[in-house]
Amino acid sequence: MKDVIIIGAGGAGLSAGLSAKENTDKVLIISKTFPTHSQTVQAQGGINCVFDTKNDSVEKHIIDTYNSSKHLSDKKSIETMCTNAQDTITWLDKLGVPFSKDNDGKIEQRYFGGTKFKRTCYSADYTGLKILHTLYDNCIKNNIEFLYEHILVDIIIENSCYKGVKILDLISGEIVNYYSKTLIIATGGYGNIYSSHTTNSLSTTGDGLGVAFRKGLTLSNLEFVQFHPTALKGSNTLISESARAEGAYLVDDNEERFIDELSTRDEVARAIKTKLLNNHNVYLDMRHIDIESLKEKMPQELRLIKELLNLDVQKDLIPITPAAHYTMGGILTDVSCETSNKNIYACGEVAQNNTHGANRLGGNSLLEIVTFGKIAGKNASKKSKEIKESDTFDKRNSDDFIDNILIKDENKSIYLIKKELSSLMFAYAGLFRTKSDLENLLEKIEELEIEYKNTGISNKEKKYNKNLLDYIELGNIILLSKLTTISAIKREESRGSHYRSDFIETSKNYEKISIIKNINNKTEHNFEEIL
Ligand code: FUM
Repeated sequence: MKDVIIIGAGGAGLSAGLSAKENTDKVLIISKTFPTHSQTVQAQGGINCVFDTKNDSVEKHIIDTYNSSKHLSDKKSIETMCTNAQDTITWLDKLGVPFSKDNDGKIEQRYFGGTKFKRTCYSADYTGLKILHTLYDNCIKNNIEFLYEHILVDIIIENSCYKGVKILDLISGEIVNYYSKTLIIATGGYGNIYSSHTTNSLSTTGDGLGVAFRKGLTLSNLEFVQFHPTALKGSNTLISESARAEGAYLVDDNEERFIDELSTRDEVARAIKTKLLNNHNVYLDMRHIDIESLKEKMPQELRLIKELLNLDVQKDLIPITPAAHYTMGGILTDVSCETSNKNIYACGEVAQNNTHGANRLGGNSLLEIVTFGKIAGKNASKKSKEIKESDTFDKRNSDDFIDNILIKDENKSIYLIKKELSSLMFAYAGLFRTKSDLENLLEKIEELEIEYKNTGISNKEKKYNKNLLDYIELGNIILLSKLTTISAIKREESRGSHYRSDFIETSKNYEKISIIKNINNKTEHNFEEIL
């Protein structure tokens, strides 16, 4: 039996693993994809930390984060993240993250949206990728045990007590039970509810959230989804905020600028979407920026623009569109990363720990996942010392979850269902929302859910069955689409990333977090004060 099982091997899961390993050897990280494929790589532009205490301050970082959250956050969580920032960066630097540095060896910093200070440390435009690879490398050095290509399908809870997890081995097609004293869920967000309109990799399908919801854990703030202003038109490939931080303009067809490029992402994305709705195209204009500086600071973006659009940033305007990028909602945790169920922790994008509120500040995601990943690892491993080792459990799976999927005929392609859902979500639960659109959307999601339940998949093999994985993921995507839509209907105001065209004001009455829960197979939603 393990002391700590961690589900998810992105930046949060790996940070949790390294910190848990300081207290126990019995740590197991289980991951759906290979760790270096996780979504963390999409936080390209940087990680926030105040170093320049002459002009900037931790207090200002706290205030910027709180303002960007539109007052829907807990100062304790924000303080935890911001006051730990220097320790977090120093830790990463010591682990070997190749931060961009000046000639004196000082970590370089750039501007990012929502602040007036150069506060964002970076590794060219590969910051998330370099952090992720370094964390994984250190996990290997520390002999942390991994299971790759294994997906969480259920949590074993007996008499309200956490016992273990049911995991589908994607290679054999068998479900195996793994038992541990504590669990950390670090499975990432639910950006793939907008699957054809997201910067996310295929993996962010809300698996941890789906399982947690079914088991009665509290989810919160699902209506808040961040749309990144600048994805490449056509492919939705992210062009980092660092482009604008390094001086790129946003221009319309008349080559006119129309917004302060470094406003918060919700404001910039809405301004762009408004232009697009008015039949304009919107472009990133980098023609005036010194090419040598771009080559040094944004090599990845230059390569992507060339490879995907065959455009030259020195001569061409780059067509962009907003795309779903980050989900602020998640499994509700307190500042110690504990969820509503004892001995289950959550960290990273899957968690809603009241730091980002209605709109996350660019550069805060990497800081948050590493800082709270470490906290989760420390607390879960310490807690495991207080829990008695249970008897050996039966490792064999006793349920017929997989057989029940394989036995069904394929009545409709699950890929068609996913595509239809994604277009509907983007159109009606995207940057602009109204009650009637959302209510119609909910009806349509429920129809698609019935089609999903009534269909099987064409590949009936158990081994290496990618269809099976896609089927399970789609179940979570549909559930999360539904819960996001319900939450968006209930919040009758505009706040941060949630913009209701029928309630354009921010209302004091809704300065509360939204709570959504499965109680005896009924979905219950309400609002609660931030404690
Ligand atoms: O634009 C970006 O580089 C994304 C960063 C982030 O999500 O924090």
